[in-house]
Formats: sequence, structure tokens, C-alpha cells
Amino acid sequence: VSATTAEKPRKRYPGEAKGFVEEMRFVAMKLHTKEQAKEGEKEVKQPEERPVQRWEPSVDGYLKFLVDSKLVYDTLEGIIDKAPFPSCGVTVVLLSAKSSFFFRFRASVVWSNEKNKVISLMWSASDAEFRDTGLERSEKLAKDLQWFKEQGYTIPEPSSPGVTYAEYLKELSEKDPQAFICHFYNIYFAHSAGGRMIGKKVAEKILDKKELEFYKWDGDLSQLLQNVRDKLNKVAESWTREEKNHCLEETEKSFKYSGDILRLILS
Ligand code: HEM
Repeated sequence: VSATTAEKPRKRYPGEAKGFVEEMRFVAMKLHTKEQAKEGEKEVKQPEERPVQRWEPSVDGYLKFLVDSKLVYDTLEGIIDKAPFPSCGVTVVLLSAKSSFFFRFRASVVWSNEKNKVISLMWSASDAEFRDTGLERSEKLAKDLQWFKEQGYTIPEPSSPGVTYAEYLKELSEKDPQAFICHFYNIYFAHSAGGRMIGKKVAEKILDKKELEFYKWDGDLSQLLQNVRDKLNKVAESWTREEKNHCLEETEKSFKYSGDILRLILS
């Protein structure tokens, strides 16, 4: 038997043939409950895992949810926006001749130590691509909070679930790009799916059906989502199987942190 014919077929991961986003989606859908989504497999343990139709939200709770969500989006969008190499002007000029990708790549390496080298390198391939995707929510949430203020509500300070998640995202952005991408995917895509449904139901119950900016996108949402799927798939193409698995394994934490924030609606 030759070495080639004796080789075992490599393990296939669910969704793999369609690209890495499909793998992330597969893992995420299983972490829903049956009540949340038909592909769900998890049993209901937390209040926010019960059917949204049966939620009894309060305006105060919903405001806390919006404030903490804004902190998370501010953090996420701030991370994506910020240049990874703030003060390397001279080097940049010398190295930026070829393309912006090249320039980012080289500049990061020049200003990082040996361990950070890999991180910066991977980041430089992805961070610029996820800027201005049209999925950003920070400014929309600012408008919504302004509207609540005009209605006479006091806007609370961010609470523990939002603060904790924001800190965690900052930490990941510096040391774990694969895990960070998992959160990036889940935060934006969850909001475009279950998040929208929640927004509609909550508005029916406590906001006289007022449609918040949080649930409106400029342009065709399905096209914006597809553009981001394409970019995510492209970034993950350069990952090893171990890096991909590491990203997928982070999904549970993403549900945990987002679940803690969702639960505020019911507080
Ligand atoms: C998709 C519901 C919480 C991540 C969906 C879908 C529904 C849903 C109905 C669409 C399923 C389909 O395509 O057929 C809910 C409800 C939730 C909730 C009711 C809570 C009350 C979450 C959380 C996360 C999450 C906490 C992660 C942080 C996702 C992702 C998708 C999804 C990644 C796939 C979106 C896509 O295919 O573009 N959810 N979900 N969901 N949800 Fe959730």
C-alpha cells in the first residue's frame, strides 16, 4: 500500500465547504435554544433564553441594554478604527511604497517585539478590511439614546455586563485575533438576526412600536452582511486548522457575554 492510498481522509468540519463563516454560523446556531431558533440545541437556563414573545421587558431595563450595547460597539469600532502603529512616521514613509497592506504589515513588524510580531501581522491583514462595513452600530445607538433623553428618560451609566465585555474585547484585540474575530462575527450577525426580532417585539410591548435607529442600516443589509462574510472568509483562509478551531471555541464566550447584556432588558 502506498503512502498516499493509506492516508486517512482529513476530518471535515460542518460548513467547511462553504467557507469559514458557515463554520462559525453552525457553531453559533447550536448554542441557541429551540425556542430562539429552529437549529438551536441548547436547553433554556437563563431568562433571556425563553421565547421573546413571553418576555416582560421594562423601559429602564431596555435602556440599560442599549447603553451597554453602545459601549460594546464603541469599543469594537474603536479597535477596528485605530491604527496599530500610532507613532512610526519616518519608518512608514520608507516602507509604504508598495500598497497599504504592505505598509501596515511592515510597520507593525518594525514596532513589535518578537512575540507580538505574529499578532500584528495577522491583524494588519484584517483590521483595515473591517472598517466602514456599514454594519457599525455606535452612531445609531447614540441617536437612539438622544431620543430617549428627549423623551425625558435619564440615560444610565454602563453597567457591569457591558464594562466587562468591553474590557475583554480590548484584551483579545491585543493578543488573540482569532478569538476577537469570533466576537466580531457573532456581535454583528446576531444583531442582524435575533437582535432585530427582539427590537421589534420589545418596541411593540413598551415603545408604542417606535423603530429605533439601532435596527436600521444604510443600504441593503443582506448585501452588507454578504460583503463582511466574504472578507471574513478571506481572512480565515490564511489560518491554520488550529487557529480556526480556536476561533470556533470562542463562540460560547460570545454567547455568555452577549447573553449577560441581553438579560438587562428583563431587569
Ligand atoms: C441567527 C434568534 C441570541 C448569534 C439567529 C436567527 C434567529 C436567532 C431567529 C436566525 C436563524 C436562521 O437563519 O434561520 C436569537 C434569539 C436570541 C439570540 C431569539 C436571544 C434571545 C444570540 C446570541 C448570539 C447569536 C446571544 C451570539 C452572541 C447568532 C448568529 C446567527 C444567529 C451568529 C447567524 C446569523 C446569520 O446567519 O447571518 N438568531 N438569537 N444569537 N444568531 Fe441568534
